[in-house]
Amino acid sequence: MTGYYIRNALIVNEGAQYNGSLLIRNGRIDKIYRGEKTMSVPDKTVTIDAGGNILIPGIIDDHVHFREPGLTHKGDIRSESFAAIAGGITSFMDMPNTKPQTTTQALLEEKFTLAGKVSRANYSFYLGATNDNLKEILLTDPEKVCGVKVFIGSSTGNMLVDDPLALEGIFSQSPVLLAVHCEDESTIRHNTSLFRGKYGEDIPVVFHPEIRSPEACYKASSLAVKMAKKHNTRLHILHLSTSEELQLLDTISPRHKKRITAEACIHHLFFNDDDYNTLGNLIKVNPAVKNEENRIALIEAVNKGSIDNIATDHAPHTFEEKKNSYFKTPSGGPMVQHSLVAMLELYHQGIITLEAVIDRMCHAPADIFGIENRGYIREGYYADLVLVDLNNPWIVNKDNILYKCRWSPLEGRTFHAKVTHTFINGNLVFENNRFIDAPPGMRLRFNR
Ligand code: DOR
Ligand code: ZN
Repeated sequence: MTGYYIRNALIVNEGAQYNGSLLIRNGRIDKIYRGEKTMSVPDKTVTIDAGGNILIPGIIDDHVHFREPGLTHKGDIRSESFAAIAGGITSFMDMPNTKPQTTTQALLEEKFTLAGKVSRANYSFYLGATNDNLKEILLTDPEKVCGVKVFIGSSTGNMLVDDPLALEGIFSQSPVLLAVHCEDESTIRHNTSLFRGKYGEDIPVVFHPEIRSPEACYKASSLAVKMAKKHNTRLHILHLSTSEELQLLDTISPRHKKRITAEACIHHLFFNDDDYNTLGNLIKVNPAVKNEENRIALIEAVNKGSIDNIATDHAPHTFEEKKNSYFKTPSGGPMVQHSLVAMLELYHQGIITLEAVIDRMCHAPADIFGIENRGYIREGYYADLVLVDLNNPWIVNKDNILYKCRWSPLEGRTFHAKVTHTFINGNLVFENNRFIDAPPGMRLRFNR
């Protein structure tokens, strides 16, 4: 295996920034050097001059829907992992609302086997909870599987766990972290019938946040928190979208001591309800994008660390599917190629610090899930690394979108930051818009 010597980088890691260089050998970070001095490098080592660009740990996205198996007209593990790599993501955790749904250990292992052949990035997969698969949940190996996904609220894919006894069983007995989608089904049904009464089948999408309302989010999130406290469950609340839910979070404990952690997603940090006027169904997602007050509150919580990590909820649908009327349009949109550059745009706007972006996208997922030897720039860790030019403006357009669905709600936007290089397990896999042949990614391992 070739080694790499990355010199002249601005290393951003663990809350610090410093000029330095780094040696990659045998898939790992072998040495980190601070300062400007040039080191003599071993044979068969390729030197890459970072030209002062930032060097960060690869992003770990704990929430994607890569659609395989069964929904591969929307995306597949190979296509979406390529797009992720171009966006600086080196590891992902994929959701179980595929076809078939990943609700047994056998189906889960099939996904791992498939990813071992086709995924370019490192991977893990959630087992999906249902009203009646507790037996399967109990068999989950916490060292080999990222978590169990529970939909408290139906959303896309119809995996609602709505039996209170089933929920109690899952919360009290799961051997592994529960990642929970929180929107209360009865509140949504009630709001839906009100709006249907007024507008019929073609409800303007601007009412999506009134149907999937802040009350629906709060009701389900507070139920999840209540049950987690009762059973001391390791709970991770996905895609928080409202200021009210923030009251439920623990702001005091250090991250590694928390039993309840929370995620924010790019679309809730980047868009607000004004954007329905221009983007319509393209930003129809569950939970809904809400108003500016909520967006600002979420950003503040990310800055403070009461929201622990940032993910994408990358959920591609075809453009044709997204062009339907309100009820026929599935919720979700693609994001993995643009999550880092979108967050760095908020950094350029002075809304969030660079250290916080790196912490919430790289370090935090590693801590939350106990991922082995990834998420930080440390000697001995896997060389999952990304070089980013902070000032190299480019425009998102059809020619540079890599998602299988070939659209993005960010089309036409200028981003100032650009990912130039992505390394995975010590292999340079992406360099200046070009993919380089390399072995598939690795299965993530967890120490917990
Ligand atoms: O908007 C969403 N899309 N929310 C979800 O919970 C599921 C996702 C999907 O799979 O399309
Ligand atoms: Zn999701």
